[in-house]
Amino acid sequence: MQYGFSDRMAYMNGTATREIFKLLSRPEIISFAGGLPATEALPTAEVREIAYEVLSKEDSYKLLQYGATEGYVPLLKACKEYIGEFGVDVSGPADMLIISGGQQGIDLMCKSFLNAGDTVLVEDPTYLAALQIFNSYQAKAVGVKACKDGIDVSDLEEKIKKHKPKFLYVVPTFSNPTGKTYTGGNRKDIAAVTAKYGIPVLEDDPYSRLRFSGKKIDSLYSYAYEKNVVYITSFSKVLSPGLRVGVAAGDPEVIRKMAICKQGTDLHTCLLSQAVTAEYLARGLLAPAVQNSLPLYRERKQAMAEAIKKYMPEEFEHTDPDGGLFVWGVFKGCGIDTEKLLPHAVKRNAAYIQGSVFYADGSGRNTLRLNYSNATPGKIDEGMKALGIFFKETIAKEKK
Ligand SMILES: Cc1ncc(COP(=O)(O)O)c(C=O)c1O
Repeated sequence: MQYGFSDRMAYMNGTATREIFKLLSRPEIISFAGGLPATEALPTAEVREIAYEVLSKEDSYKLLQYGATEGYVPLLKACKEYIGEFGVDVSGPADMLIISGGQQGIDLMCKSFLNAGDTVLVEDPTYLAALQIFNSYQAKAVGVKACKDGIDVSDLEEKIKKHKPKFLYVVPTFSNPTGKTYTGGNRKDIAAVTAKYGIPVLEDDPYSRLRFSGKKIDSLYSYAYEKNVVYITSFSKVLSPGLRVGVAAGDPEVIRKMAICKQGTDLHTCLLSQAVTAEYLARGLLAPAVQNSLPLYRERKQAMAEAIKKYMPEEFEHTDPDGGLFVWGVFKGCGIDTEKLLPHAVKRNAAYIQGSVFYADGSGRNTLRLNYSNATPGKIDEGMKALGIFFKETIAKEKK
């Protein structure tokens, strides 16, 4: 059969990563490639009880009917308060849209703004799946230089002038892939420069609540001078990714467009998931559950930092995040190509993600991302030992 697939499919080739992921299902592999919240942090018993209760009410049939695209009202109300904790002040439900995870928020922003050939600015490196979504809209992602405090604002300004982007996409707190957090000053500067040129910003914030050290920082949204920041967050990393619930907030004019786009995508987010999330929030379960999970994330991040120190070659420099799920590493002064080496590392029963997939232009071949949330400290030590030996051997061979 000769299929007439859309032109956009040409931009959506399966990545090498997907092939590697198939290998990772082998039980002997210790994988630092994923990005899942810790299994131990999933509140199965509470969700079971809440699901039973919300389905036991007299009008529970409503949860099995169609619902409003904008979202389930009790959840919208709860979300106003929830996002307010990070300085995302909204005047009411018109400023919000319940989304089926942050991933859908990115997609709806793209669907609302992008024509083929448009440009989106991103931090270099940035969230891999966002790059894939931009590709699916036949848009071009252009990387803005990263700096210690966040993104390089003069490079941002230059690239705004040069590329006239439709919007800027950033993950300012415990970024995926680097684990880095933008300073307040950097957020302020980004807000100022994007307002100056009338550029919308998509702030993607799945990780703010997974802070195990350092001081809380408010959203970039809270620094905005104009209503140009759309904020998205989701309950995936603090409650359950399987429920597929998140929220977008911003200028009602933009939110309205996103809601229209959502109608074509899934009509509305699963009502049962929304009701469970709303009730979980109403019972005040989220904050203590997150609080209880933080020592586990802290312990695993520390195990990763210690294992890196113990086993990785001196050419390896890495971030030391205060939260989130990822450590980012760069090999300096050697010829390590993490993309080429990944299949060989997997043969040693340990895996990472090559950093190049997080760069808009596919560069960064000397970088990698390590996820620490889904392995015990013992497994982290074992896996990093295997990777450390492998990289040290590779560098030694190269020097011969
Ligand atoms: C930065 C970022 N954005 C969005 C997502 C998508 O998550 P979800 O759709 O489950 O909210 C992820 C998941 O890892 C992520 O790291």
